Amino acid sequence: MDNFNFYAPTYFAFGKDRESDCGKLVKRFGGKKVLIHYGGGSVIRSGLLDRVKDSLTQESIEFIELGGVKPNPRSGLVYEGINLCRKENIDFILAVGGGSVIDSSKAIAAGTVYDGDFWDFYEGKSVDKALPIGTVLTISAAGSEGSPDSVITREDGMLKRGASGEAYRPKFSVLNPALTQTLPAYQTACGITDIIAHLYERYLTNTENVEVTDRMIEALILAMINEGPKAVNNTDDYDARANIMWGGMMAHNNSCGVGRTQDWTSHTIEHELSALYDCAHGAGLAVTMPAVFTYTMKHNVMRFAQIAVRVWGCQMDFTNPENTAKAGIEALRSFLCSIGMPKNFAELGANESDIEKLAYTCCYGDGSGSGKISGFTTLTQADVEAIYRLML
Ligand code: NZQ
Ligand code: ZN
Repeated sequence: MDNFNFYAPTYFAFGKDRESDCGKLVKRFGGKKVLIHYGGGSVIRSGLLDRVKDSLTQESIEFIELGGVKPNPRSGLVYEGINLCRKENIDFILAVGGGSVIDSSKAIAAGTVYDGDFWDFYEGKSVDKALPIGTVLTISAAGSEGSPDSVITREDGMLKRGASGEAYRPKFSVLNPALTQTLPAYQTACGITDIIAHLYERYLTNTENVEVTDRMIEALILAMINEGPKAVNNTDDYDARANIMWGGMMAHNNSCGVGRTQDWTSHTIEHELSALYDCAHGAGLAVTMPAVFTYTMKHNVMRFAQIAVRVWGCQMDFTNPENTAKAGIEALRSFLCSIGMPKNFAELGANESDIEKLAYTCCYGDGSGSGKISGFTTLTQADVEAIYRLML
């Protein structure tokens, strides 16, 4: 196991009706004037936004609102939010929504207290300072409610990039599983896929002797395999949604990723798809993961064989472990299909003619990238092109 630091001081308020504690929580973490940030309207339709506002009012906390965050959140609204926060002297940002709303909130929180362009953070500058953030989560997926990460798409060039830093960890997150009951089955399944991807990206490591985190990851994937179909098939299954919500947070606050190298190749390759086609991130991952794993499997066949046996219940082929590794990847693919995820480029709405461009942007960005992506293995533009072709 490698040396590591782990400090994840988010306060979680979990369970039914917990959004009624928002006012108290904002107060506890020092907020006096809040920007409530939300998405395209689901929180208005469900009545959640009104409940959150009532809770702030009860604690005499001032607030203003900025809605309109799109899935795969854009830089334009981030600039608007930064200007608004400065003009209104906002000292706390409350994200009410999914990963896109939380990530947009994080970008606004960092940009407001930074002299330069907030995009600097999405080109590698560490986020050391930001306004405090709280979240009320409405979809289990991205894990941004407990992570130090944010992903934003810059409209100029449609570049989708991530930023990271301890200042991005929310001060508190309200996790009420019942809030996810208004999600369409497809979005629920996209979220489960993303959670599984966050676990695989950590499982694919080059660090040896990481038994505890291996076993934690395996347990969480097994829980998603058990609970996922229940939530997809029955909107009202509170307990399945509760398990998925806590699992989604655990999958990405990095408690399962400490002390080991991680992969993130599938995410890097997928982000180009959701940036260009505006597909759901989880749907993009469903198509991307089996292709990436098939391509990189030979780098460490036993790692893929291990997850195949321990998670997917495959038989170990001692004569040819590659058969076991492949069976595990097939089991993942068929599970994702069973919950309604797309399985190829066509079902995702992606075009073969874009492959060269996708691979170039993935490896070089707007021209400044290194030409390689590194994680479990190192891949060149030609490798990435070959991976996109496996998705056809
Ligand atoms: O905008 P509204 O109207 O709220 O609708 C949203 C949106 O259309 C809807 N929705 C959310 N909660 C709902 C609901 N509809 C009905 N009932 C509810 N309770 O669902 C749609 C998708 O929402 P979004 O926030 O985009 O989903 P998700 O949480 O999957 O976030 C995806 C974004 O997170 C990034 C992804 O790349 C993508 O941009 N990621 C962020 C990470 C992080 N910050 O740590 C890590 C992830 O790997 C990921 O990359
Ligand atoms: Zn993800």
